[in-house]
Amino acid sequence: MIIAIDGPAASGKGTLARRVAEAMDYAYLDTGLLYRATGAKVLAENGDPADEAAAVAAAENLSASDLEGEALRSEEVGTAASKVAAIPRVREVLLDFQRTLATTPPGGKRGAVLDGRDIGTVVCPEAPIKFYLTASVEERANRRFKQLQEKNPAAIYERVLKELEERDARDSARDVAPLKMADDAIHIDTDRLNANAVFDAVMAHIHTHMGADD
Ligand code: DC
Repeated sequence: MIIAIDGPAASGKGTLARRVAEAMDYAYLDTGLLYRATGAKVLAENGDPADEAAAVAAAENLSASDLEGEALRSEEVGTAASKVAAIPRVREVLLDFQRTLATTPPGGKRGAVLDGRDIGTVVCPEAPIKFYLTASVEERANRRFKQLQEKNPAAIYERVLKELEERDARDSARDVAPLKMADDAIHIDTDRLNANAVFDAVMAHIHTHMGADD
């Protein structure tokens, strides 16, 4: 069983996907982390994330330890991730790993939950259950800003908003595997829903789907 959860930056898909995986006892893969680790590796070598040769070399040389660390969560790394993610060869390099985890989840789990931008459209188009989360860019900026402010009281809302707008534009406009809702995905607008309400709605869909399969 594969559950695909896609959506723009800061739409809450990561928190949701982790909770769903836990509730179902499935494997979980945050695919954004692969792009973040690739972007961070280029930055660490003082390279330009938009440079194809540097980004492809970083993707090809990723190791498990590159996927760890709070630093990967920064806005700077998010922007670098979004730049390397626009390079077709980088996406190709990272595709196998994602597909293998989805189809043969580690630890003998019976399924996997993957979250990202193109899980329902490109990585696992065959996934029987797909969700597409959205929220207005202002609401997403608000949520991200509150998280940032807890760590850094000097965070600036306008800056968070601008970074999200730029990332949305880059992720949606790229030629290869752009952020897009799969035709068979269930769309959930989270503007007026808290994380628990989104989780409950998603679990209800999953149970309905699984029940229909019995
Ligand atoms: O989900 P995130 O914010 O951690 O993702 C970081 C960037 O990685 C995002 O701006 C675009 C890219 N990405 C992608 O292109 N495809 C995915 N499946 C996941 C992330």
